[in-house]
Amino acid sequence: MTAETDRARRAARQFVETSRLLGADAVPVAVGSPTAEQGGRRPSDSPADKQALLDALRRRHDSECPHCTTATGHTRTVFGEGAPDARLMFVGEAPGAEEDRTGRPFVGRAGKLLDKIIEAMGLSRDEVYIANVLKSRPPNNATPTAAEAARCGPYLLEQIRIIQPEVIVTLGKPAANLLLGTNEAMGRLRGVWRQYEGVPLMPTYHPAFLLRSYTPENRARVWSDMRQVMQRLGLPDPAADR
Ligand code: URA
Repeated sequence: MTAETDRARRAARQFVETSRLLGADAVPVAVGSPTAEQGGRRPSDSPADKQALLDALRRRHDSECPHCTTATGHTRTVFGEGAPDARLMFVGEAPGAEEDRTGRPFVGRAGKLLDKIIEAMGLSRDEVYIANVLKSRPPNNATPTAAEAARCGPYLLEQIRIIQPEVIVTLGKPAANLLLGTNEAMGRLRGVWRQYEGVPLMPTYHPAFLLRSYTPENRARVWSDMRQVMQRLGLPDPAADR
């Protein structure tokens, strides 16, 4: 496939996903990737270096994490996956049943919705990095407690330091609370830029919440949050001139 065809396909997929998310009838398509001026990369370790650091961190996590090595109810850890030099990093809560079965983050129902959101942003899953606050599935899919997050969370913080994303999107309250050191509710947090160690951070609703409360208002809120992220990253926004 030529780069041109690849771009056109991506734009078509983005059109479909944006229309689905917004429930819109027609969304004008903008073809093209961000220019250097729109989204210049900062110099950093090479992707191979970062991958090696992530692999080492994963081994260390699996052997020593005070939460995951003592937790019960999971069959494997789910470290996270994606581009080691991703510009955009998503942080969720904890693996669920399907993630525990496969060892991959966000592959269940909530993950399918996250895939659509990523596609609507004009990106693909392998261009971003996806991780969680907890790396093992809590019994009964319980929401991570602050104490659990404090024990497993340092490995997530190290992942962020290795990847050095340009933007972090937290999905749901536990991730925002951990990275921002706050206990604020999602309703107050979402849609407003924050910072984690100098990295712009956009809190938004967790896709599982969106599935439970799939209202036009909530969909529009998440999409508005993601449009702010796209703007920050210099990604083309097909809905910008509507
Ligand atoms: N929910 C999360 O927060 N993370 C996953 O990996 C899957 C579902």
